[in-house]
Amino acid sequence: SEPLRLGIAGLGTVGAGVVKIVQQKAELLEARSGRRIVISAVSARNRDKDRGVSLADYAWEDDPVALAKRDDVDVLVELMGGSDGPAKAATEAALRAGKDVVTANKALLAHHGQALAELAESTGAVLRFEAAVAGGIPVIKALTEGLSANRITRVMGVMNGTCNYILTRMETGGLSYQEAFAEADGLGYLEADPELDVGGIDAGHKLSLLSSIAYGTQVAFDEVELEGIGRVSIEDIRQAADMGYRIKLLGVCRMTERGLEQSMAPSLVPASSPLGQLEGGTNMVVIEGDEVGQIVLRGAGAGEGPTASAVMGDVMDVARGTRLSTFGAPASSLIKPVATKATTP
Ligand code: NDP
Ligand code: HSE
Repeated sequence: SEPLRLGIAGLGTVGAGVVKIVQQKAELLEARSGRRIVISAVSARNRDKDRGVSLADYAWEDDPVALAKRDDVDVLVELMGGSDGPAKAATEAALRAGKDVVTANKALLAHHGQALAELAESTGAVLRFEAAVAGGIPVIKALTEGLSANRITRVMGVMNGTCNYILTRMETGGLSYQEAFAEADGLGYLEADPELDVGGIDAGHKLSLLSSIAYGTQVAFDEVELEGIGRVSIEDIRQAADMGYRIKLLGVCRMTERGLEQSMAPSLVPASSPLGQLEGGTNMVVIEGDEVGQIVLRGAGAGEGPTASAVMGDVMDVARGTRLSTFGAPASSLIKPVATKATTP
């Protein structure tokens, strides 16, 4: 069969990780997906930057929209970030042309997920975003595929590696907030605007995407009750530890008789519980379904390898010809949720 030709827009932490996998695992990718996966063209802001990978064999485009429209690009892999601007423009250009898109961009999906899902459906394209939620953990595949016969009763979890890293390093490493923040930066965890991380917004984006899939509703990020970790002090962390608790930036969504509740806020969790034992950039998502009961997914939520792993899982699904709806159900069937104030989980 013909090779699947990628156009990669964004060559930062995640983009460089994706290029490495395509270059270093060509045989494995082909054996498992049934198609050779190649890169035709790439795009980033600075053509001269050393990214630790050779880009000599690929065409270069300064403009990600031009990249998306190239005849030798079958799939746009959008790894630039940002809810609007070039990420949105390039994604729309690709979908409009009937090309599949794989993205790690939760901000884009949280703000424009419904419109993009409708656009994809109108042209027969597929839009996938496994890497956007909980990095390397295949939580979207779990909800849209393995658990799709369940009524979901609750989804909760720790979904921002930066915040979990900072909170755990402040607690167990004795680091100041600034020192822990700098370490998270060095590990490639941070968003381009770190306020998205520490303000709880990034985790809120992710929660809103999981809510949509879990409850068949349109993404309602504006309805997430949000609080970041900026007001959590070392003293708070110590007091919680004295009582046998840890502070985690915890997200919870559930459908109640009154409507959809979504909250993302610093919360006390028992230190001995699975959530209480999460360290560093690790994420955990707990899903409760009427048939399956409770399942717990745990793994690296950020960083080059884990995120590129999730991106490539989506690319390989595209190579196999898997044609799933963006949010696990046709975009036209997603209902506008009635939002309600969240109560304690
Ligand atoms: P980086 O900031 O490391 O990389 C962003 C890349 O996009 C850079 O190569 C940059 O170019 C390029 N870029 C930015 N703006 C433009 C533009 N206008 N035109 C062309 N290229 C542009 O980000 P990450 O790799 O960390 O993140 C990428 C995406 O993945 C984001 O959506 C993020 O939320 C998501 N994500 C990140 C994770 C992580 O652990 N880092 C985990 C899960 C999701 P240049 O290098 O030249 O500046
Ligand atoms: N900035 C994000 C985090 C990257 O720290 O979790 C993964 O989405």
